[in-house]
Amino acid sequence: MSKMSEAALGGQFTFPGTSSTVQRIGYGAMQLAGPGVWGPPKDPDAALAVLREAVAAGVNHIDTSDFYGPHVTNQIIRQALHPYPEGLVIVTKLGARRPPDQSWQLAISPQELTEGVHDNLRNLGLEALDIVNYRAMGAGAGHGPAEGSIAEQVAVLADLKRQGLIRHIGLSNVTASQVKEAQTITDVVCVQNNYNLVNREDDAFIDDLARQGIAYVPFFPLGGFTPLQSSSLTDVANRLGSTPMQVALAWLLHRSPNILLIPGTSSVAHLRENLAAGQLTLSPDTLTELDGIAVSAGTVEH
Ligand SMILES: NC(=O)c1ccc[n+]([C@@H]2O[C@H](COP(=O)([O-])OP(=O)(O)OC[C@H]3O[C@@H](n4cnc5c(N)ncnc54)[C@H](OP(=O)(O)O)[C@@H]3O)[C@@H](O)[C@H]2O)c1
Repeated sequence: MSKMSEAALGGQFTFPGTSSTVQRIGYGAMQLAGPGVWGPPKDPDAALAVLREAVAAGVNHIDTSDFYGPHVTNQIIRQALHPYPEGLVIVTKLGARRPPDQSWQLAISPQELTEGVHDNLRNLGLEALDIVNYRAMGAGAGHGPAEGSIAEQVAVLADLKRQGLIRHIGLSNVTASQVKEAQTITDVVCVQNNYNLVNREDDAFIDDLARQGIAYVPFFPLGGFTPLQSSSLTDVANRLGSTPMQVALAWLLHRSPNILLIPGTSSVAHLRENLAAGQLTLSPDTLTELDGIAVSAGTVEH
């Protein structure tokens, strides 16, 4: 099997109302920054190799942010891949900043959002950003969505889109009603929330977005900083001759056709393992067994 076909095995998705089609198996770049998503990578050559290997294997959807590092991840992407291959979709996000104490602070004023777009453009070496996610609640990866208006921030991004600096707008860490509110201002092409085999709180939301053709891009698809651990997951993986992480990713691909994967890794070996998840077919019985993991974790109702 050629390398080119690896990412393609998970299938493709076209963002709604756009001509942008990506492989469903993409890559999340957050793990390329140093410990605590701060500073340079432990192994800069490995970071470059991961990005180049991903693109060589057909990945054309990379998730990033200028607050990873800060700036570090975008600069590594530029160093590894610029000039970018045709069709590569780089998705970035706004809504937070990282002061020198390494904390995560909100950056949601019109001025901060506008500066954020220019920072991303400069660090990525682009004239327009393919997709910008407004990340609500900005502070810290572990904070879940909170209700509240995001209209002011979405209006700023819509204005930057009219200026040609952003091609498409997405939302992150949001609720269904926040998506509806944003859609009164602009088109929304993707939603990026915390979701995986164990954390299933967005199940109904995913189905709603699928009906609208909007991409759902789970962050922490492998469980995040502490990857998923479950004896049922290990049992299934052993039976299929695969790894638990591959099964977790394959389950997401089976869960809904609008789910796009952006697993994060700093290792070429893990990248290759994750790309191979697109080869796995899960039977209805296996899917039911895997659904049981969320039921026992209490995130899916009986
Ligand atoms: N919108 C948001 O608020 C938000 C929040 C968090 C993340 N994100 C985005 O979502 C992407 C994915 O999330 P994430 O990277 O935090 O978490 P993740 O993809 O769920 O998991 C990453 C962790 O899993 C490990 N890993 C990856 N592949 C593995 C494999 N095959 N076997 C064993 N361990 C493996 C990584 O370590 P190694 O480096 O050792 O492989 C890392 O510790 C990020 O990269 C980022 O782009 C967005």
